Amino acid sequence: MIATSVKNAWSRSVMAKTLHSPQRYRGFVLTTAGLQKLHEQIKQLEIQTRVRQSPRTIAERVQLNDPDGIHPITVRKILNGENGVDKRSLQLIFQVLQLQLQEGDYAHAGLYRQPDDPVETPVATASSVGHQDWSEATDQSKLYGRLSEFTQLRQIVLDKQHRLIQILGMAGVGKTALAAVIAKAVQPEFEFVIWKSLHPAPTTHTALTSILQFLVKRTGESIKLPTRTDEKELLIEQLQKHRCLLVFDHFDSVLCGDRYAGYYRQGYETYRELLQTVAEMAHQSCLIITSREKPRVTGVEDYHIYSLRLNGLPLSECQQICSDYPSLIGTTEEWRSLIKRCDGNPLILKTAIAYIQDYFDGRVSDYLQYLKHGRLLFSDLRDLLSQQFERLSSVEKELVYRLAIHQKPLSVSQFREEIMLSTPQPFWLEGLDSLHRRSLLHRQGGNFSLDLMMKTYINECLEGVMNFALAPQRNV
Ligand SMILES: Nc1ncnc2c1ncn2[C@@H]1O[C@H](COP(=O)(O)OP(=O)(O)OP(=O)(O)O)[C@@H](O)[C@H]1O
Ligand SMILES: [Mg+2]
Repeated sequence: MIATSVKNAWSRSVMAKTLHSPQRYRGFVLTTAGLQKLHEQIKQLEIQTRVRQSPRTIAERVQLNDPDGIHPITVRKILNGENGVDKRSLQLIFQVLQLQLQEGDYAHAGLYRQPDDPVETPVATASSVGHQDWSEATDQSKLYGRLSEFTQLRQIVLDKQHRLIQILGMAGVGKTALAAVIAKAVQPEFEFVIWKSLHPAPTTHTALTSILQFLVKRTGESIKLPTRTDEKELLIEQLQKHRCLLVFDHFDSVLCGDRYAGYYRQGYETYRELLQTVAEMAHQSCLIITSREKPRVTGVEDYHIYSLRLNGLPLSECQQICSDYPSLIGTTEEWRSLIKRCDGNPLILKTAIAYIQDYFDGRVSDYLQYLKHGRLLFSDLRDLLSQQFERLSSVEKELVYRLAIHQKPLSVSQFREEIMLSTPQPFWLEGLDSLHRRSLLHRQGGNFSLDLMMKTYINECLEGVMNFALAPQRNV
């Protein structure tokens, strides 16, 4: 209630301000030091209050202090270190977060060469530029939200303790997008940044040879190009000599299906040794991998390994994605309902939006109406989920079928009673663990539930089978 009235008051006053006030000089930008201060304070505040400090939340706090307020878009710009903000907005944000804006915290954008905008993800370039190789990165568009993940990961990447960072999550949840933003944001701290796509799966020999060749060209050192026996050692030598950030995107391409999750495809087991070596050996670099499945590295979680599991985006961030499509027509409630159906998964949401544009004349309500009897997952989305399903071992497939019929999360003991009849205990527990590794099982406290998209896939498949069985047989 209070939040709503604050929001309304804020909208009114900002609108009035925009109409009547003279133009402010909007040529400031936060420096790396200023940004770091801000993000660290936000992180502390989130820990203390357990409330996510989104740009909107911060804008609302500012509004309580200063009736003129700041627009959430300006807050977002500031948090992302974008150019073109006015000094008053910087001061207000710092003030509301109980920080002092000091001289080294901000600069005139034109005079300050700052790290590239962290929300604009890198655009793939045709060639390798300078000390960075983004040639295998895909073209990414905007990234909304993920502020706490961004802050957390940036700190981990820079702390020099963590040598291997794993960004894990369901297909389309935004692993690659986040990794790209992080790599861009920290690139000034690294001598070399190299982005490698592991799709389609290159052997370690191919991947490492191309990394070493890139380094040879840039350093001018006479590095021996690797043979299959010394490639890891040669890479580690370089990671010791130079502070490098390597990103292996789509790591799941070198993992195999059919078995429990996290094992390596035949001929790719050397990736396990590579991850292990990077995590264990002393050096000053960092390897980030993005993967739908958590690879098996060592038996125990290592001190030098950090894993972040990404879930779907919260409602407000999904709403921002939707607001990129102003031609679509929908009420807030309809958008909310669509986002819920998509489980906050940006890829699924964007695909649904494309269907709405192409087949429903931009009307969200018509699409929701269609979903009452039609399928959320068709065409490419169904293929994506089907590929994930086909990778499961037979035990996991059985577990997935059983979990799909439950609306609410289950406790282990509830599930055991149900499953014990058909699957011996050691197998089902291992199966659940494997589903969790594949980002298909969510754990909350002692309870767990199947990923909503996989549940939708299974139920839509089962409905399809039922409809087929019940359909009147046609004489051909
Ligand atoms: N936070 C976000 N804001 C806006 N768009 C996003 C966000 N996260 C992801 N996207 C968009 O969603 C789509 C899927 O994201 P991305 O490719 O990063 O997913 P992924 O988790 O790497 O998927 P995969 O497992 O298939 O590699 C892309 O179009 C990306 O730009
Ligand atoms: Mg990806």
